Amino acid sequence: MSRPWISTNLAISADGKISSVARRPSGWTSREDHARLLQLRESADALIVGRGTLESDRMTLTVPGKPVQPLRCVVSQTGRISADHPLFQKPGGPVHLLVTGGSTPDLPAEVTIHHGSLAGFLETLAMGLGVRHLHCEGGGQLIRALAELDAIDEFHVTLAGHALFGGMEAPTATGIGVDFLPASLDFALSHFEPRPDMGECFLSYRRAQ
Ligand SMILES: NC(=O)c1ccc[n+]([C@@H]2O[C@H](COP(=O)([O-])OP(=O)(O)OC[C@H]3O[C@@H](n4cnc5c(N)ncnc54)[C@H](OP(=O)(O)O)[C@@H]3O)[C@@H](O)[C@H]2O)c1
Repeated sequence: MSRPWISTNLAISADGKISSVARRPSGWTSREDHARLLQLRESADALIVGRGTLESDRMTLTVPGKPVQPLRCVVSQTGRISADHPLFQKPGGPVHLLVTGGSTPDLPAEVTIHHGSLAGFLETLAMGLGVRHLHCEGGGQLIRALAELDAIDEFHVTLAGHALFGGMEAPTATGIGVDFLPASLDFALSHFEPRPDMGECFLSYRRAQ
């Protein structure tokens, strides 16, 4: 499968959750973690999130001060995104929506809607749109789908051990699913930055071959 080089970024609680049972949006980590989130966007030609994350975090997927903004990609089975979402109001890179179900949402004309599979969309990004580096900011369901395709090259994580969320309905880095991945994926540590002042640790891992 042709695809871009793919990185992901998440903050996880001490119990491995990415949000609380109340679907608490991101923003529960430090300002430094937020700065890292923005920094990790900088080298990407395209950003991608699941519709759940787009909605709960009201994301606009932009990089402050970057002259050429990355493509803004969203994945949804239903295509259910409101046309007045901040994503469509804030200037930024072109918006590409992958709808894996059958519907065609009614969205602003400048949004490119793709139909098909996630694997096919990754190929379109690489071959049709010239995306070399795709950066994923979650959530767990989308990261799980990428992991099932073994399509994660680098995994950034902020270990925010200052929070415990609990809850069977709170997603982890690979969503809420109870099933194991088809195969475990191994990663090698490439960056280790403990931040005792914030009770957090910034980590990066590269896919081990
Ligand atoms: N801690 C962090 O760093 C961090 C980062 C990101 C998100 N979050 C939190 O995580 C929560 C959202 O996570 P989530 O696990 O629900 O995942 P998500 O992937 O953001 O959202 C799930 C939804 O996205 C769409 N989707 C995702 N993968 C898909 C695929 N392979 N094919 C088709 N559609 C797909 C579906 O949308 P449709 O329903 O439209 O079909 C699905 O219902 C939010 O509370 C957010 O605040 C935390």
